[in-house]
Amino acid sequence: MKKTISIAIDGPAAAGKSTVAKIIAEKMSYIYVDTGAMYRALTYKAQTNGVHLEDETALLDVLKQTTIQLEQTEAGQAVLLDGKDVTREVRSSEVTNSVSITAKHRKVREEMVARQQQMGNQGGVVMDGRDIGTHVLPNAEVKIFLLASVEERAKRRYEENLSKGFPADLEKLKEEIAQRDKLDSEREVSPLKKADDAVEIDTTSLDILGVVDKIMTVINERS
Ligand code: CDP
Ligand code: CDP
Repeated sequence: MKKTISIAIDGPAAAGKSTVAKIIAEKMSYIYVDTGAMYRALTYKAQTNGVHLEDETALLDVLKQTTIQLEQTEAGQAVLLDGKDVTREVRSSEVTNSVSITAKHRKVREEMVARQQQMGNQGGVVMDGRDIGTHVLPNAEVKIFLLASVEERAKRRYEENLSKGFPADLEKLKEEIAQRDKLDSEREVSPLKKADDAVEIDTTSLDILGVVDKIMTVINERS
């Protein structure tokens, strides 16, 4: 039987991680784990319950009493928070613009990483996030770091918002993405960083299938 491997995909906001990770997981019949959705789900629950995102102890208490499941459905990956489908809610701008606060806390990250490692411990997984190659799956056979200019990433989110009927303001999106990248890259605990053994792919002028092809080449070389 062919050995299954682990594939880690990291990079800044709107670099295309989840889109290509889903396609690769499908091609390889692997599970896909969107770790960003887990930080988003906790942020959403804390905001809904009036828990201050700067309060690490309170956030950890909330997390310990929370189940977050990522379920594959025909419409894509659904995010279940204590059994309730919050797929749409976790992508709101309120959550997007505060999730980096939740994600900066050491104890919150330790608990999230433990859960993510459990999800990935059998191999056969494509996991995307910010610290997958550096902390969550340090032994992953394939590590990819996706990049694109902030202008291109803002444009991608702008078009995505328009296609979903959400309001979109290109300049505002650009500022929000730049601010989130800054918080994620400069935090003390597991900042957004390319793992030394990751393959960097600049996707600024690549379409989705172009990125998928490049990653499949790396996978075929390493497995
Ligand atoms: O989809 P997008 O790139 O906009 O974000 P995401 O992957 O859903 O992640 C949302 C936020 O969660 C990031 O901006 C990080 O603050 C945090 N995150 C993290 O710290 N570590 C991860 N492994 C994944 C996400
Ligand atoms: O997961 P992450 O935040 O890194 O990005 P994403 O949600 O996968 O991609 C953001 C948007 O960019 C989506 O609408 C993708 O279809 C689009 N995209 C693109 O236009 N070209 C690429 N090479 C990759 C993604």
